[in-house]
Amino acid sequence: MPIYLDHNATTPIAPRVLDAMLPFLREQYGNPSSSYALGHAAKDAIAVARGHVAALIGAEPEEIIFTSGGTEANNIAIRGSIGPNGGKRAIVTSTVEHPATDEPCDQLARDGYAVHRIGVGADGRIDPDDARRAIRDGAGLVTLIHAQNETGVLQPVAEIVASAHEHGALIHVDAAQAVGKIAVDVKTLDIDLLSIAGHKLYAPKGIGVLYVRRGVRTQSVLRGAGQESGRRPGTENVASIVGLGEACRLAAERLREGSTAQMVVLTRDLFARLQHTIPDIVLTGHPTARLPNTLNVLFPGASGRAVLEACQQVMASTGSACHADREEASAILRAMGVPERKALGAVRLSLGATTTTREVEDAAEALAEAWRKCMAGTASAS
Ligand SMILES: Cc1ncc(COP(=O)(O)O)c(C=O)c1O
Repeated sequence: MPIYLDHNATTPIAPRVLDAMLPFLREQYGNPSSSYALGHAAKDAIAVARGHVAALIGAEPEEIIFTSGGTEANNIAIRGSIGPNGGKRAIVTSTVEHPATDEPCDQLARDGYAVHRIGVGADGRIDPDDARRAIRDGAGLVTLIHAQNETGVLQPVAEIVASAHEHGALIHVDAAQAVGKIAVDVKTLDIDLLSIAGHKLYAPKGIGVLYVRRGVRTQSVLRGAGQESGRRPGTENVASIVGLGEACRLAAERLREGSTAQMVVLTRDLFARLQHTIPDIVLTGHPTARLPNTLNVLFPGASGRAVLEACQQVMASTGSACHADREEASAILRAMGVPERKALGAVRLSLGATTTTREVEDAAEALAEAWRKCMAGTASAS
């Protein structure tokens, strides 16, 4: 059986999430804006889901806006908040963002905003002092990834939030990879805007959330009717919203039961097994400030792509991009100072809620065997 170790790319829909959704794809098809019972049922279901999402991140239900995913949430947060909240024309972000942050920032730069990208250290983390220096130069918005999707490295969000607020800037956190895997509380962290992507926590693709702290203004990037308090027009994706609500309820349950610590044990076991057969394998990123489920490893002497191609049993990803004539190393690893040649050895292994010890053992064996095959191929070719 193939082993799925790519949960940072997407997760399967949890069976209970699907069960919660199905009635809204069948008989409960009403439009939540309709004034008869079928519409009310849909509207009530959205309210319940909003409550579950809010509870997972410590927000109030009215601070939750449903979107089409993490990308749209980031776009509303970045393009929609910079104008109406004080009007400062500078944005601080980092060199390790997802394209869903990078691209809207690039667009704002083309529109005349100053965009400052803070670099990271070899451990993938921003130095809070670098952030403070950049923010005090007149930032209106700070937008940062919470957990990096390729490396799983966690940024020092709390310290950076304090600097942002001290200097009157809003802070948006792209928590698409963090929510559901670790405890995230918007009030404890004092965050203004936060993005969630449903398909990273066992809900369907095409649904997400933007948390907007009460009092923070966002301009809609779409124009239309008044759904989501006018902040995100368009008839609600009721079934997916219900699914995301249930996924958040289940995530809160898992976190209460200690899923983070259990995941750390499994992930460490996978790395220890790989290291046992491949002593020179390197784990990238900070050793402890990281997601519990993510290992980004550099296979020595072989490209990550070649290792995965030789290992059909394991589904995982590399951070590299394949161009017509050559492979290009991950920009995230390059931003951390990993040399191009070493960075080409990267493979991201991301475990999920249903990953078993047996799968970890089998995956470690299969990956080590694939690496050995690649090395043997390299030796015979040279
Ligand atoms: C950190 C991060 N932000 C944003 C996104 C985009 O989310 P979506 O795929 O729901 O648009 C992703 C998805 O890969 C992500 O990993």
